[in-house]
Amino acid sequence: MPGDKSISHRAVMLAALADGMSRIDGFLEGEDTRATAKIFGQMDVRIETPSPSTRIVHGVGVDGLKAPDGALDCGNSGTGMRLLAGLLAGQAFDSILTGDASLGKRPMRRVTEPLARMGARVETGSGGTPPLRIHGGQTLAGCAHVLEVASAQVKSALLLAGLYARGETSVVEPRPTRDYTERMLSAFGVEVAFSPGFARLRGGQRLRAKDIHVPADFSSAAFFLVAASIVPGSDLTLRQVGLNPRRTGLLHVLRHMGADIVEENASDCDGEPVADLRVRYAPLHGIEVPVALVPDMIDEFPALFVAATCADGPTVVQGASELRVKESDRIAAMAEGLRTLGVRVDEAPDGAVIHPGPLGGGTVESRDDHRIAMAFAVAAQRASGEVHIRDVANVATSFPGFDALARSAGCFLE
Ligand code: S3P
Repeated sequence: MPGDKSISHRAVMLAALADGMSRIDGFLEGEDTRATAKIFGQMDVRIETPSPSTRIVHGVGVDGLKAPDGALDCGNSGTGMRLLAGLLAGQAFDSILTGDASLGKRPMRRVTEPLARMGARVETGSGGTPPLRIHGGQTLAGCAHVLEVASAQVKSALLLAGLYARGETSVVEPRPTRDYTERMLSAFGVEVAFSPGFARLRGGQRLRAKDIHVPADFSSAAFFLVAASIVPGSDLTLRQVGLNPRRTGLLHVLRHMGADIVEENASDCDGEPVADLRVRYAPLHGIEVPVALVPDMIDEFPALFVAATCADGPTVVQGASELRVKESDRIAAMAEGLRTLGVRVDEAPDGAVIHPGPLGGGTVESRDDHRIAMAFAVAAQRASGEVHIRDVANVATSFPGFDALARSAGCFLE
């Protein structure tokens, strides 16, 4: 499985801000994370690529970034844009963050509004969407944020801005989200207090260079967990997958549904739990997905919807309205595509009820969303007819080589 996307973004960002040289192994060679690395190159950070999935980052220190000579293109990446918004709000120079058509529709006020409370000046386009125009040279003041959305991206943006703020910045979340920024800041020598749903740091601290090993991305593994669970006769082992508890909601849900997934060779990768996941076909039954698990599987719903079509009763998803503002409206995208393949899906504003049924063939739209494309590639393995998936190039944002790997695992995919 490729390297973790969330960790790869953060590794480049923090290594760039650190004093000294950091080596990153297992870096995700996806378009999203490469866009982030390129952006730091535009701000005069030297980043070498001695071999694929490795980066040597020559950190410039928290105050060492240079004004870029043009707009900074985050591509498809909400993580890149939102985290950078916080980081750049604290710089002495102005910057502009842009992205592709999908990113251009995503909500940014969730990050610009709390940043404004710290004294940052970040303008969005009309409708609160990108591009972001960041006015540097502001004096930021630490702030106690109580967030309305459970978003690791927003929390991370505020903590990164907090590095440049006077006093303390703290964030309380409505539900705990992934804590990679907190863990990695701490690994780079920053004093940061954190517990599930809470983080706090003091501004003005420096970062010490640190080598990082990026574990395999659970969200990429998720497609194979589902594929093997629904195709009779399957027996796959996915090596050394990151099992951070804030990411593994799908593992719990699939097991509740009856999936046969065993953890083997458990170990530790720079403080992150990792293990081989052996998954074998097993009959699944529908469940009501616990709302508390939604943030822990926020990127896995496209895969879950597919698993649900092969279960023996309906699966109910609620409290997941965030899915409507991901790389696409993932509730609508999955409902529409699954209906095309002959399955009943009842949509709700914050979720859906997926009814099991035999999958047929048809042409489905990925809506230019990597995870929708991969989810339908998995669904196709159980379909009675050919499934054509439109606009699949975006798979490379998070999982370059997905098609070849899927074929090598026995999937039918052209
Ligand atoms: C991410 C956080 C999540 C997730 C995204 C990566 C991160 O987004 O969907 O793929 O790396 O912080 P939200 O913070 O919007 O929930």
